[in-house]
Amino acid sequence: MSAHDAYFSQLQAALQKEGMLRPSLIVDLDRLDHNIDQAVAIARQAGKALRLVEKSLPSFPLLDYIARRAGTRRLMSFHQPFLNLDAQHWPDADILLGKPMPVAMAELFYQALQGEFDPQRQLQWLIDTPERLQQYLALAQRRGIRLNVNLELDVGLHRGGIPEGEAGVLMLRELLRVIAEHPQQLVFTGFMGYEPHVAMLPRLFGAPARLLAGAMATYQARVDQVQREAPELWAQALAADGQPALTLNTAGSPTYRLHDQEQVSNELAIGSGLLKPTHFDLPSLATHLPALFIATPVLKCVNTLNLPGIGWLPQVLSRLGGRGRRALFIYGGNWLAEPVSPAGLAPSAMYGTSSNQQVLLAPDDVALQVDDLVFMRPTQSEAVLLQFGDLLAVRGGEIVERWPVFTG
Ligand SMILES: Cc1ncc(COP(=O)(O)O)c(C=O)c1O
Repeated sequence: MSAHDAYFSQLQAALQKEGMLRPSLIVDLDRLDHNIDQAVAIARQAGKALRLVEKSLPSFPLLDYIARRAGTRRLMSFHQPFLNLDAQHWPDADILLGKPMPVAMAELFYQALQGEFDPQRQLQWLIDTPERLQQYLALAQRRGIRLNVNLELDVGLHRGGIPEGEAGVLMLRELLRVIAEHPQQLVFTGFMGYEPHVAMLPRLFGAPARLLAGAMATYQARVDQVQREAPELWAQALAADGQPALTLNTAGSPTYRLHDQEQVSNELAIGSGLLKPTHFDLPSLATHLPALFIATPVLKCVNTLNLPGIGWLPQVLSRLGGRGRRALFIYGGNWLAEPVSPAGLAPSAMYGTSSNQQVLLAPDDVALQVDDLVFMRPTQSEAVLLQFGDLLAVRGGEIVERWPVFTG
């Protein structure tokens, strides 16, 4: 009897055929296609563009694959070395920073920039405070360049940016004033308002629809303020002549599907939800399929857990902790991941964990042998994707490509 269901048995056979008896990361392209198509359908229905969250999908072949199927060249970048790679690899990309970069990193970006990518037409820096805007203004003056400024809005996440309420009105007024006074150095290109709390908070804090309505009301008020107080900056952003198109960014995987009705934003960000690691097992992503798995071989099987130590205590604890279970030592471990196949695998709190040979306790009847594989689902994609070397792209249960991941 196989320890795995048909899906994981087929994956195991494919990896064993290739001799992949080390920890590896699998992207299921059939499932990825399904998830991409979901996102494309929602964006199309809402009349919005999709922007791919590069940190959550840090592999160019993976990003290329998704971008081609989704028909987008928009990226959201979060890390200066990756930003330089994006510009080099995707010279036609439209890139928005997803977090405010220390100005020293922005300067390094320009120093390291190679190739055709034209930041003045294709790159928006994210600015969260008047102090940072002054730093970027100084950078633009120093280098004799013009920078596109996208302003970070706090629409309820409370992770910084232009705050809600009257304080936000004053801060935005100040930011717009500085931009308007320095047209040779600074250009207003839009807003970014990220709102994962809408889907992540317990219901006690408010229903998603109500939280989203609140977030988008804040967003709308900021848009109205620019139109009212700086109509020439708004008109310039709309005209988008020699600069990126007006970018009113919002959402992320947990919330993108909730934006089908609102009329404020013009693009939705998405990354992790296309692979659906376990943190994205949310009601709002119920129709997405898990498409990312760690596979790793069993190195040793023992029929009972044996805790180290002498005397009766370790023996009693072993019996209690390992009752009815076999102990499997796997190749590697300690990843941000949860065992998924065979069913019933669990780490041992008593034995502890290991990045070298982690123990997993398995129900007694799990027929797993040395060199069989166990499968896990990463809890998140961004860190885990960088830990296994090339991704194994699988279609129809066969490995079809090997995709390098980002380094930097
Ligand atoms: C600004 C911003 N937008 C969007 C996202 C969504 O990314 P994902 O779809 O991978 O959750 C994130 C994630 O951290 C973010 O910081």
